[in-house]
Parts: sequence; C-alpha cells; structure tokens
Amino acid sequence: MGAQIIDGTAIAQAIQEEVAQEVSRLKRDRGLAPGLATVLVGDNPASQTYVRMKQRRCGEVGIHSVGVELPGDASQQQVESRVRELSADPSIHGILVQLPLPGHLDEEGILSAIDLHKDVDGFHPINIGRLAMKGRDPLFAPATPSGIIELLDRIGAEISGKEAVVLGRSNIVGLPVSMLLLKRNATLTICHSRSRDLPLVVKRADILVAAVGRTEMVKGDWIKPGAIVIDVGINQVEDPTRKRGYRLVGDVAYDEAKEVAGWITPVPGGVGPMTIAMLLQNTLTAARRSVEVS
Ligand code: GUN
Repeated sequence: MGAQIIDGTAIAQAIQEEVAQEVSRLKRDRGLAPGLATVLVGDNPASQTYVRMKQRRCGEVGIHSVGVELPGDASQQQVESRVRELSADPSIHGILVQLPLPGHLDEEGILSAIDLHKDVDGFHPINIGRLAMKGRDPLFAPATPSGIIELLDRIGAEISGKEAVVLGRSNIVGLPVSMLLLKRNATLTICHSRSRDLPLVVKRADILVAAVGRTEMVKGDWIKPGAIVIDVGINQVEDPTRKRGYRLVGDVAYDEAKEVAGWITPVPGGVGPMTIAMLLQNTLTAARRSVEVS
C-alpha cells in the first residue's frame, strides 16, 4: 500500500484564503492594511526570486509590500539603519531580511535591528532564544518550520511521545523545527554531517524531517513502515526533457519512500508552498497585534 500524499499546495492555498479573508476584515473593521517590508541585499538570483514570490503572494491577500533593495557592497551600518527605519515605520507590520546575507555582513547584528514585534520570519536572536526555552514562546516562529508543524496538524498527526528524527541542523530549518517538535513533546533526534549509522537512526522515526539539501539521500529501506516523511529538500537535477533543463527533487528518494511511508510530502508541492503561507499568516498576526485585535 502506498503512502498518502500531503498536498502542501492545497493546504497553503487554504491558509492563504483564510489570511485574505482576515485581512479584508481588518481593513473593514479597523481601517488597517497589513504591511510587509522585504529587505534584499545584493543580487543573488535565488533570493531575488524568493523575494518576488513573497511580494506577489502578499498582493494576492491584500497585504501591501515594500521592497527594499541594497547593493551587495552595502555596509553593516547602512543595512542596519535601513532596518531600523522600517522598525520605526507604523505602516510596516512585518520585516523580512532575506538570507543569506553577503559574507561581509554580520547577520546577527542586522536581525537584531528588527523590532521584535515585526520579526515575522522569527529569526531575531531573542525569538530564536525563546523558541529554545522550555515554557517560553517566541512572538513568531520561523516560516518553514511552522509550515511543517501545520502540515502535521492538518493531517491529524499525533506528535506527542512520537520518535521524531530531523536530518539537518541549519538555523533556517533543522534547528527551529527541532525546537518546535520538542515543544510538542516529540522524542527528538537531530542528525547532521557527522552523525553515524544514519539509516539505523532514521528507521526509528515515526516522523522524519529531511532538511539537508542532498539529492535523494534518504532511501526507501531506511524508512519505518507507516512513518510520516516530510521532505524539505529542493535540489536541482539535470533533466533535458524539461524546458528549464532541470527538475526539482527532494532529500528523500520519493518513489521508493512512498511505498513504505504512511504519509509523504512531494517535491515540489509539499513543504515549499507552506513557507510563504506561514509568512503571510505571521504578517497578519503582527498587524492584528499592533491594534490588539484578538
Ligand atoms: N532564506 C531561505 N529561507 C528563508 C526564509 O524562510 N526567510 C528568509 N528571510 N530567508 C530565507
């Protein structure tokens, strides 16, 4: 029996529609239009694409977006002062600094310049710190990890007491999703490039999150029958049959894994669409909090 497919595109679409309705209610009842500022430093093509997609989706739900672009050689002080201006701007409720930043910039210093209440990406050091503390919640949790928990909730998965294995320890996905799973009382194992006996560890997982960026690294026979497999990888593989010359595949060997898993996210169309949906939801939350609408 094959796995059930977790349709991230449909779930993200449903969330986007919910956000659009709430945004129009906020405009009607309070005269408030939520605003998101995106900050892009340099001309990394992938970052440019992500920022454009975020702005377009903002437009679709009625969130106004302001795109700030700074040159790749902008100084620490220039970037920080631009972020501080946005932090002080009452028409902006959320600020997103697209990562990675050029190598000469101090990421922590720039993220610390974001007003905590506008940190819709959840990367401010204080929000990350709260995410890691028992009994404390951040004002916002990072978008991709929140999207993963949302997917688990929407398929009715039980997290408490389950064995969760996370592959990858990045600041953007691996570490924060681990903290969110722990807050939901999973028994957590984090694996990384130095971990040993990966197939054996993965075999224990009731919930597997793969976020390492290595094409089809996780094989079907690593997976526990019935497990929930969340594949965060977006890897390009050459494919001359496609117009673009490549196709996207995950960190999990999908065709094998879907024969063993209970649930699985496809790539594309699994976790990817959830990231922007959660960002829109966080921006709505930030705007509501600014006028204390419950
Ligand atoms: N770079 C890769 N993913 C993300 C994300 O979710 N937010 C930001 N700001 N940068 C990223």
